[in-house]
Amino acid sequence: VVFLQKLRNDRNLEIKYLRNLIDSLNICLIALRNPCMGRLTSCLVKNLEKGKLVMRTESFSSRHVLQALPKLPVPNLKDTLDRYLSCMKHLLTEEQFNKTQNIVTQFGAPGGVGELLQSKLTERSENMANWVYDYWLNDMYLNNRLALPVNSSPAMVFPQQNFKAPIDSLRFAAHLISGVLEYKTHLDDRNLPADYARGQLAGTRLCMEQYYRLFTSYRLPGPERDTLVAQESSVMPEPEHIIVACKNQFFVLDVMINFRQLNQRDLLTQLEKIVKMADNEEEQLPPIGLLTSDGRTEWAESRSVLMRESTNRDSLDMIERCLCLVCLDDASGPELSDTTRAMLMLHGGGLTKNGGNRWYDKPMQFIVGADGCCGVVCEHSAFEGIVLVQCTEYLLKCMIGSPSKLVRAASVSELPAPRRLRWKCTPEIHKLITSAADKLQRMVKNLDMSVHKFHDYGKEFIKKQKMSPDAYIQVALQLGFYRCQGRPVSTYESASLRRFQQGRVDNIRSATPEAFAFVKAMTEGKNSTSVEKMELLKGAITAQTSYTRLAITGMAIDNHLLGLRELAHEMKMGKLEMFKDEAYLISNQFILSTSQVPTTVEMFCCYGPVVPNGYGACYNPQSDHIIFSVSSFHDSQQTCSAEFVKCLVQGLRDIRDLCNKCNADCAATEERKGQTQEPKKEVRLLLANRP
Ligand code: COA
Repeated sequence: VVFLQKLRNDRNLEIKYLRNLIDSLNICLIALRNPCMGRLTSCLVKNLEKGKLVMRTESFSSRHVLQALPKLPVPNLKDTLDRYLSCMKHLLTEEQFNKTQNIVTQFGAPGGVGELLQSKLTERSENMANWVYDYWLNDMYLNNRLALPVNSSPAMVFPQQNFKAPIDSLRFAAHLISGVLEYKTHLDDRNLPADYARGQLAGTRLCMEQYYRLFTSYRLPGPERDTLVAQESSVMPEPEHIIVACKNQFFVLDVMINFRQLNQRDLLTQLEKIVKMADNEEEQLPPIGLLTSDGRTEWAESRSVLMRESTNRDSLDMIERCLCLVCLDDASGPELSDTTRAMLMLHGGGLTKNGGNRWYDKPMQFIVGADGCCGVVCEHSAFEGIVLVQCTEYLLKCMIGSPSKLVRAASVSELPAPRRLRWKCTPEIHKLITSAADKLQRMVKNLDMSVHKFHDYGKEFIKKQKMSPDAYIQVALQLGFYRCQGRPVSTYESASLRRFQQGRVDNIRSATPEAFAFVKAMTEGKNSTSVEKMELLKGAITAQTSYTRLAITGMAIDNHLLGLRELAHEMKMGKLEMFKDEAYLISNQFILSTSQVPTTVEMFCCYGPVVPNGYGACYNPQSDHIIFSVSSFHDSQQTCSAEFVKCLVQGLRDIRDLCNKCNADCAATEERKGQTQEPKKEVRLLLANRP
């Protein structure tokens, strides 16, 4: 209960005090009356979404009076262990499986270590908004030492723009920035409409927390673990600048000047100034952004070298606190296909192209290429692809809905010129930049990408078969992969957990035994009939759909096993057999890393593989076509993106043909039945009454 009597004479102090108080409490009951409410809205909604608040007031607008979302449940231990065994059985040799079965049985034995960990996990879930959030964030992102480009940061590729003159790309950038500022206003006012689940188990309200990190967070590199810094404190001044990268130089573009937000015309003027400043060769500084494309431990070390100089500290501070980056890229080369554009978004093309024109730690980097190659590349730890799509679609729809009316920039501008960020570079830093550039160049050469628009059919055809489009595509991916490699492998499909407080994702293990049975019948089962194959297809789709439902309701196995493993580590139990076992390692080697990222605007998402011998496969199902972005590494002898796409396309066609054949057979049988059937009672009567 908050007593405000003492603070009454200073309203600002009162609000600040309340915000801090609410932020710092674990749970509180609010019973306040106007006029505090209006000014506390953003703080209240934020805490409400974290499940910390119980609201009790008549004056708080109904839009904001939301029940806290449910907490992520802890699945039953036995269910998870049984599921783990059935997910892994066909991915292991008999010997491996027998060993794993013994280990799992021991782990789950009554009074054993599994039960102890499970009870601790239940306790943890009672005391936290989301028991897996920190474990998951560290395991999935912050502990990962690999470089962000390709390995971790996904990208959205916008429709190819047709810029006729250099000024057109700046107009596009100015338009985009003003959209960002408008979107940021919605975020600041906390009046973004809540998302509701679609597809499977549609209608549930979803957690909105990820949106509030889009423009306010930063991934700080650390020697062993990175930190996701969120500028959540209301005491800190709001960032009011964007960093514009141009020719590997970084410029501070203030978006508020003299308490006024810059309009598109002003923004264009400022961008023109930036381009001129960047062209000045005498002022050019080394491509420091390359350091952020290095491995995370290496970047953490380089950053600490940079931090020795106060000039560098100031520049880093400006970048770390900016809203986002806008990278004005040079044209990258003559050939611009979907595949090359996807690659340019993921790695910038290395030092010789736009690889240094980036700052990978910042969640949102909009790319505006002079050749019309545009998109956004994201640091992934702060939010999921779906949130990124929602934001990007808002911006693109804004731009399509209100075409840029700019004829030219303000001719005489009283606006102060944007500032170039300065760097003091010692020979040591030069060496570090060269080393980062070499590694990025290797990555550029290594990435094997294939973007394919499958036009034979889309999700409407699949729905007509009364099948879930997502499950169907996953089964097709299994079939495509089996055709390529003749074996099933651990597969990851992201499943949203946003139905729960602070929900991120869990894994749908799409390499189900049922999918395995189906792909074997399709590829090796010369003696199987269409009816048998269809039965197996239905079984595979049902298994996939059931797993999806489990995952989105918090009952999948991956987060649960991770929670048990991390608790054992925290409790200093040493490395348990269960998590040392080869099967557990195999289960986490996601040779197929897949994700559905649907869009309603023409664009597509892409990302890299998560293991050296794996594929990244992102898909965007549309009503009459499906876009696939497949990635792998040339270094691996086992993979080839074009080959995988070929097998996938063949798989999609084979499944369609199977469905069509079975539908036609069914229709023919029905027709035959109709012809041979006895006439109905009324007809019989009619016939009997004939003269
Ligand atoms: N018959 C006919 N139609 C069906 C059907 C069936 N048997 N099963 C599903 N459908 C329909 C759905 O009603 C839905 O219709 P809509 O397009 O009108 O909404 C549509 O088919 C799609 O449903 P489905 O293919 O089953 O998938 P989904 O939309 O439920 O998505 C996941 C499944 C797992 C992808 C989704 O739950 C999810 O978690 N998405 C987030 C993924 C993510 O985080 N990606 C980014 C990672 S960075």
